[in-house]
Amino acid sequence: MSPLPEINLAIHHPPRGGSDRFALAVTRLLRFVADRFFAKRYGHRAIVLETVAAVPGMVGATLVHLRCLRRMESDRGWIRTLMEEAENERMHLMTFLEICKPTLFERLIVLVVQWLFYLGFFALYLLSPRTAHRLVGYFEEEAVISYTHYLEEIDSGRSANVLAPAIARRYWDLPEGATLRDVVLVVRADEAHHRDVNHAFAADLGGGAPGDVAPYPWHAPEWDAEADALEPAHAPLAQG
Ligand SMILES: [Fe+2]
Ligand SMILES: [Fe+2]
Repeated sequence: MSPLPEINLAIHHPPRGGSDRFALAVTRLLRFVADRFFAKRYGHRAIVLETVAAVPGMVGATLVHLRCLRRMESDRGWIRTLMEEAENERMHLMTFLEICKPTLFERLIVLVVQWLFYLGFFALYLLSPRTAHRLVGYFEEEAVISYTHYLEEIDSGRSANVLAPAIARRYWDLPEGATLRDVVLVVRADEAHHRDVNHAFAADLGGGAPGDVAPYPWHAPEWDAEADALEPAHAPLAQG
């Protein structure tokens, strides 16, 4: 098993200027809506919110890619970082799908929210990439808090500490007897890394100095290729 990285749970970027305040206000509004809708249903919350969390990395990667082509300049490693973030968030989703199943209503919400959020985030990234990364940094601060609450639910016995699904054991190199608690710990460490990376990108775009970045947990490389080899039903997708 790979060691769990030490992370600082308390990081909050104090807003500086209108761009940061806008990003924080949007985050607080969405947090309020999520709290009302999901309350303490942390498994369902994780599933729906991870479908949203996996969008910004792909939008950012696309728009940075296009900008680098137009300007004929280096991406300084941003594209791979953002695509890795998108894949990692998708793996969070695939993991929590093994823990609980979304309701039909939640699936409908995901359909609507994906369109709204994709278009809205795309427009924001076109207008102000700095604000877009700050927004994701604040989203990730909230994700760290939410997963801390999820851990408290598990520790209090209100959520069953079931065995970790095989997909999670493989992706994070968890031992055979690993549990949901171990999964939430590595997911929270992922979110802390995304938090710091996005705040650092926002700082870079604003001409500031990027802060420290929480270390990323170990992840299985080339997950999708290996998964396709294991599950023939997915092969046509990979080849298509
Ligand atoms: Fe996530
Ligand atoms: Fe995240």
